Amino acid sequence: MKPNNPFLLYGYYSPDYFCDRERETDKVTSALRNDRNLTLIAPRRMGKTGLIKNVFYRMERENRENAAYFYLDIYPTRNLQAFTQSLAHTVLGQLDTLSQGILRKMTAFFKSCRPVISMDERTGAPTVSLDFVPEQAGETLREIFGYMSASGKRCYLAIDEFQQITEYPETGVEALLRSYIQFLPNVRFIFSGSKKQVMEEMFSSAKRPFYQSTQIIVLGEIGMDSYRLFAQRFFSLAGRELPDESFRYLYELENGHTWYIQSILNRLYEGSDTPIDRQAVDRCVNDILDEMETIYQSNLALLTNNQVGLLKAIAMEGTVKSVNANDFLRRHRLKAASSVNVALKSLLNRELLYDTPEGYIVYDRFFGRWLRDTVI
Ligand SMILES: Nc1ncnc2c1ncn2[C@@H]1O[C@H](COP(=O)(O)OP(=O)(O)O)[C@@H](O)[C@H]1O
Ligand SMILES: [Mg+2]
Repeated sequence: MKPNNPFLLYGYYSPDYFCDRERETDKVTSALRNDRNLTLIAPRRMGKTGLIKNVFYRMERENRENAAYFYLDIYPTRNLQAFTQSLAHTVLGQLDTLSQGILRKMTAFFKSCRPVISMDERTGAPTVSLDFVPEQAGETLREIFGYMSASGKRCYLAIDEFQQITEYPETGVEALLRSYIQFLPNVRFIFSGSKKQVMEEMFSSAKRPFYQSTQIIVLGEIGMDSYRLFAQRFFSLAGRELPDESFRYLYELENGHTWYIQSILNRLYEGSDTPIDRQAVDRCVNDILDEMETIYQSNLALLTNNQVGLLKAIAMEGTVKSVNANDFLRRHRLKAASSVNVALKSLLNRELLYDTPEGYIVYDRFFGRWLRDTVI
């Protein structure tokens, strides 16, 4: 079934609804096919997950090697036990067709735990989980990788939001993973993450286990022209017109940040304007901000006055190179540089601000616009 609205706001459907990323798709595919593991870094909502799915979609269709493709999002995991369970669920459930025979084989293979097949409550499909004691998580993890290795199949495993492992309370998780991973000749990895500093530190600091173990790709914006052609095609198929000028306006409004552009295009597509002008774009953005208002209000309620002050000041300016510059502090009546630095650190940590090469910006572009236009 085709999506009703061609501008997806989550997930991946097929290359038809996926704009460009030709070069990136080739680059990732080629690295994987040549036995290089990859690190993919980009801010949230830029399109990392989409790119991974697009690469796997294409590789699977080309089907040169009867390989298995696994995608694991570890954002919700809080410890090694959850990571291990999540990996088991993803890999064991898909590597083999689940049957009593397979269950017997798994039970013989796993020593530190007991594989259990159950029905997925939502889909009714059989799934595997591993019954293990938390203290054994490291050992069970080793066995899951061992099971992948023993399958003899070529495997591709993408671990999304990989920086999450640095938050686990157990010590030495990175070293543990690294030690297992390097002895898996038939498994290639994509480590993807949105916390730039954390990811860069993990993969390019000589002190860390994953140091120089992967090819690093930083994912940027989709180019304006290819995005425009992608969008215009869907409007013209629907007998409507999205003029170049209007597309440029909305692309620049969101600085090319994928999800924000998709959100506006999705709304424009829902409407019936043709040709679509700037006012139509503005109306869509305002509708979105209105709907989000209560959430934005409660975001603010969780912050200190200093944090709100700094966030609002950055929203007003758009991009701020140095939050300690005197004229910036004065212009926005901010307190001493020291308290601004404390607020900055916390806002970066909470992912309310993002550190770009040009300076700090409000991470969520719609929230940034709302902050700028709202008296607080
Ligand atoms: N190349 C693309 N073309 C069209 N939509 C895309 C593209 N890449 C991502 N998206 C859409 O943008 C949104 C964010 O993408 P996602 O891959 O989830 O970002 P990330 O993983 O970096 O947070 C999703 O709605 C996705 O459907
Ligand atoms: Mg993602």
